[in-house]
Amino acid sequence: MPCTVIVGAFWGDEGKGKIISYLALKDKLDFCVRTGSVNAAHTVWDGEKRYALHMVPAAFLNEKTRLLIAAGANVQVPRFLEEVELTKVKGRMGVDQNASIIEEKHAIQDKNSAVNKGIGTTGWGVGPALEERVRRTAKLAKDIPELRPYLADSVSEINDGIDAGKRVLLEGTQGFMLSLYHGSYPYVTGRDTGASAIASEAGVGPTRVDEVIIVYKSFITRVGAGPLPGEMTKDEALKRGWFETAAGTGRDRRSAPFDFDLARKTAKINGATQAALTKLDSLFPACIGAKRFGALPDEAKEFVAEVEKRTGVPIVLIGTGPDALDIIDLRKL
Ligand code: IMP
Ligand code: MG
Repeated sequence: MPCTVIVGAFWGDEGKGKIISYLALKDKLDFCVRTGSVNAAHTVWDGEKRYALHMVPAAFLNEKTRLLIAAGANVQVPRFLEEVELTKVKGRMGVDQNASIIEEKHAIQDKNSAVNKGIGTTGWGVGPALEERVRRTAKLAKDIPELRPYLADSVSEINDGIDAGKRVLLEGTQGFMLSLYHGSYPYVTGRDTGASAIASEAGVGPTRVDEVIIVYKSFITRVGAGPLPGEMTKDEALKRGWFETAAGTGRDRRSAPFDFDLARKTAKINGATQAALTKLDSLFPACIGAKRFGALPDEAKEFVAEVEKRTGVPIVLIGTGPDALDIIDLRKL
């Protein structure tokens, strides 16, 4: 720790929410900073209860963690207020005064745009809201009366926190292959989703980041249009237990097997120092709920070793089930 970035390796939905909620509890995070916007849903399981968080940071399960929305983020106010209520985080939730606002009109523009329809956007209006920000006509959090109780100078809080040795996690959203700069343009989202951009949105200089944890899922999924190497049919995905629907929009996710070359490339560009590998139980059902590496079947161990070897990044966290605590944590071995 002190300052760690969490970045998705592929097209989003790698299980970042689960990894972040585990780290919040286990590493006793002092700060968790949500970047990006409402288009991304981070799933967090707390026992039987499932949350699909579009705005509130996924570390909320730890009641001591200060939760922040980054200066570079985009806030959808009704959804934010709803989630604050749902997660009961009002007293410890801050929104940077300079975060920009997505309005209803942006969602309408998004849904009516032929280009955006072709890309298969989530329809939340993130692209049009960011266009407005670039035009210098966007509303900011400090202009919104309902956000007044939450307004914060998150950039000072985070940097003072880093100076004081606090544990700070910068929560990336979506995946690197959806990056406006580095992804499969034009089939991308409206911002750079990489580790450097996550730090930039939070207002943290690159030399102040200690770890970049790249999150891989044991297979790959994509929602919306655009290339997906190795894509299989829905029937095949169902047969393998890899068929998923989107936590945010409910759309079918397209599936493909793990791509070692892509995993290596995205680790390098993001400067990953560590990796998390989620949903190993989807590849090897005998892994479900395992908490120790020794409890994994040999073929699962071999897969983990292969990912490490071919990406060059140590896998420190392995997801074996949906709950925040269904994790093999290799950091202390
Ligand atoms: P937008 O971000 O809503 O503009 O959508 C642009 C592309 O990114 C579409 O292919 C979406 O499906 C995809 N996308 C945006 N957010 C997420 C996410 O959180 N998970 C997965 N795909 C996403
Ligand atoms: Mg998601």
